[in-house]
Amino acid sequence: MRISFIGLGKLGLCSAACFAAKGHSVIGVDSNPAVLETLRARRSPIEENGLEDLLARAWDNLSCEEDAADAVSRTDVTMIIVPTPSLEDGSFATGYVETVLRQIAPVLTVKRGFHVVDVVSTVMPGACEQTFIPLLERLTGKTRGRDFGFVYNPEFIALGSVIRDFLHPDIVLIGATDERSGNIVREVYASTVESEPRYAMMSLINAEIAKLSLNCFVTMKISFANELAALCEKIPGADVDAVSDALGADSRVGRKYLKGGLGFGGPCFPRDNLAFQAAGRIFGYKPLLSPQVVAVNRAVPERIFAHILSSIPANAPVALLGLSYKRDTHIVEESQAVMLAEKLLSEGFTVRLYDPRALEAVRKRLGESAVYCSSPYEAAEGAACIALLADDPEFAAFDWPRFERAAMPGALLFDAWRVLRGRDIGNFTYLPLGMGIR
Ligand SMILES: NC(=O)c1ccc[n+]([C@@H]2O[C@H](COP(=O)([O-])OP(=O)(O)OC[C@H]3O[C@@H](n4cnc5c(N)ncnc54)[C@H](O)[C@@H]3O)[C@@H](O)[C@H]2O)c1
Repeated sequence: MRISFIGLGKLGLCSAACFAAKGHSVIGVDSNPAVLETLRARRSPIEENGLEDLLARAWDNLSCEEDAADAVSRTDVTMIIVPTPSLEDGSFATGYVETVLRQIAPVLTVKRGFHVVDVVSTVMPGACEQTFIPLLERLTGKTRGRDFGFVYNPEFIALGSVIRDFLHPDIVLIGATDERSGNIVREVYASTVESEPRYAMMSLINAEIAKLSLNCFVTMKISFANELAALCEKIPGADVDAVSDALGADSRVGRKYLKGGLGFGGPCFPRDNLAFQAAGRIFGYKPLLSPQVVAVNRAVPERIFAHILSSIPANAPVALLGLSYKRDTHIVEESQAVMLAEKLLSEGFTVRLYDPRALEAVRKRLGESAVYCSSPYEAAEGAACIALLADDPEFAAFDWPRFERAAMPGALLFDAWRVLRGRDIGNFTYLPLGMGIR
């Protein structure tokens, strides 16, 4: 299939490369000249695990340009993956998608054959039927379903595992105006993915609601696990991992995202909850659960702060290891670890920071108020508390005697994900999150 991609960012470029590597003929379009220049030099403008290797297999079928109309004229399906930033009320802006529709409308007006327009960007319920399709019909004079197809086909991927998630989906969600367009997009995925997903074919409005709901449901599980961790901490002998392991074994619950820890952050989970609440306001329903999911999440850094405050002298140095919103990424947007750093700094603690990938991004957020360290051992120097904030098994491989020599004698070792439980870590005062001290 000949596919054009408008928007070659974190999701768009990975998706375009997956389709091209699997043999589809792909034209990528981006409005940012720097993105195109880097791609034309056969380098990746973004960091994502496995992307360099994937691009090496994709180049033969992947060309890049800045003219969206030209790309549409030479393809059969157009996937639009441009930003939909959150507005103040929590809803997603549609301006970038509308700009693309205006750019491609003239060529759709004259193009022969049935072209499918597929919006992949995350949008609010109602955006396709109320905004995008009326705009396209007005600008082209054509009728959806008859003269062109319109699909809403959002992705369920996580940064850091975008390519694996894309190629191995559990579900491919396809909202369509008509069966023909839905089937065309289904065919494109069926000839690309490596799993046997459920193809959920539905109306546009149901696909819009389903996209928003899935992330909100996942965050509800995360917040439940964190509430459980908070309860376990108060009950002598309680162990959140033992309890959630039992819960997760029940197929009604499942194990994924059921681990008490630092909570959720990043560019999608928090904003999807706010968008769910905004959808409620727009359509006249006041969500009760979603605000509580967010409140439980916000309480986690506060709880960790309280543990540290009650365990070490005021203003003592604290080392925070692992600052991105989850491990293996440089992204710090809505990072709970950075929120903890902000709280400690505002309360007068000296904060020493280490992260293998995210330190520069943290510096942009926190400025020079914190101490940035090039190794975990440097961060530990003189620290009264070392807090392990990433769910990173690599921590277990660290040289713990060296940490002990660097930190204050008997320093607090706080472990948000319990990655060191059962390990010999010397004379630290070990405090794992979610365990009730006997
Ligand atoms: N990144 C994720 O993990 C993820 C996951 C699921 C859904 N999404 C959704 O996908 C959409 C895109 O997200 P992203 O993270 O890839 O964004 P991004 O900011 O990384 O990339 C967007 C790209 O679109 C380009 N662009 C903007 N306007 C354009 C135009 N008129 N023509 C051509 N290119 C244009 C930008 O230059 C940029 O390269 C958003 O709606 C987001 O919510 C993202």
